[in-house]
Amino acid sequence: MSKSQQQFVVANCGQLLTLAGSPSVRRGTGMRELGILHNAAMLVRDGKVALTGPWKEIKAAAGELGDEIDAAGRLVTPGFVDAHTHSVFAGNRVEEFERRAGGESYQSIAASGGGILSTVHQTRAASEDKLEESARNRLHWAIRNGTTTIEIKSGYGLSLIDEIKILKVARRLNEMIRVVPTFLGAHEIPEEFRANRSGYIDLIINEMLPAVHRDQLAEYVDVFCESHVFSLAETARIVRAARALGLPARLHVDQLKDSGGAALAASLGAATADHLECTNSAGIQALKQANVQPVLLPGSVYALGSHHYAPAREMIDAGLPVVLASDFNPGSSPTPSIPMIVSLAVTQMKLSVAEAVTAVTVNAAYSLSRGHLVGSLERGKVADFVIHEFNDYRELGYYFGVESAEQVFMGGCRVHAR
Ligand code: NIG
Ligand code: FE
Repeated sequence: MSKSQQQFVVANCGQLLTLAGSPSVRRGTGMRELGILHNAAMLVRDGKVALTGPWKEIKAAAGELGDEIDAAGRLVTPGFVDAHTHSVFAGNRVEEFERRAGGESYQSIAASGGGILSTVHQTRAASEDKLEESARNRLHWAIRNGTTTIEIKSGYGLSLIDEIKILKVARRLNEMIRVVPTFLGAHEIPEEFRANRSGYIDLIINEMLPAVHRDQLAEYVDVFCESHVFSLAETARIVRAARALGLPARLHVDQLKDSGGAALAASLGAATADHLECTNSAGIQALKQANVQPVLLPGSVYALGSHHYAPAREMIDAGLPVVLASDFNPGSSPTPSIPMIVSLAVTQMKLSVAEAVTAVTVNAAYSLSRGHLVGSLERGKVADFVIHEFNDYRELGYYFGVESAEQVFMGGCRVHAR
């Protein structure tokens, strides 16, 4: 359906979650304010939100309304913003999944040549077209779960040519979903550099980063900073080189151990610090002082069979503008479902549903420098929204394993209906 160049109204929204408010991240008790309008309507003009309000007011104010989409009393939310994924990869890791169920750990599987390197092997062997086809299929899952903006990292190529291939695929995917690309050449040391780590870091800094920058293939740089992958000093070298090219950082830190990654992200002025399962109170204070947004990834804790979720409550209480994301990847978090992440945040991390919804909409959008465009349904923002098969927003966290999105719109165009 092509409705983007005209006007239409979404009528009869039982609950319209506008997330309207200050044009910035939401913190503390502000994360509980969803700007809910009851029995409301939303006017969409030229792919943007023109007006929201009670149905009667919209009717009176708008004159000719155009076509009407009847939300039938249902819940309408902004499209979800997934701020951390590794969605472009070949193959899968079902064998490792079974081995983990049999007692092996994520780290021991990685140390024996599996893990990220197994996906690198499969991704290097895949053509750009094949990679795109498989990623498209998986991104349909994301859209069917209500995601309309998605960050996508490279990181399964680990050579100049293969990292570029992944980022080009991410760029092509922008036709079906709003993509924010991140360069994660520092996801793992590839086999051919195992005896020469610093040689790989030189390659990232001297060849990969300049090429990514020249062709504008990424908006951010990321590093997997963890004791068995990239050290604090190596991470700092890469982040500084990227910053010299104008690329800010989003960093994988303190996932499996507290290695002081949060404090490093703070000292480097990163945009986000992601994972943070093992971060302590000092790390939380450092993030707060440096204005770094935490991106929490409970899907990877769940899928690795751990119970060690990030201290989300402490972070919100400290005033951090928390983001939640899927971490969609073939190893530690094989889910693209933001509603599943909301469920985990509420049941395992003790967030309220409202806090979790803020974390996957407006806070996520600001973490990607897209807060002026998406994440809330306010006049002038793009009309990315979801009509759910629910009436009350709390059902988003309460039911799980349900594809609740009945209709999904991007820029005023319907991209999914069932
Ligand atoms: O965010 N931590 C590093 N990267 C991913 C896992 C990638 C993989 O196992 O393929 C993560 O959990
Ligand atoms: Fe990740």
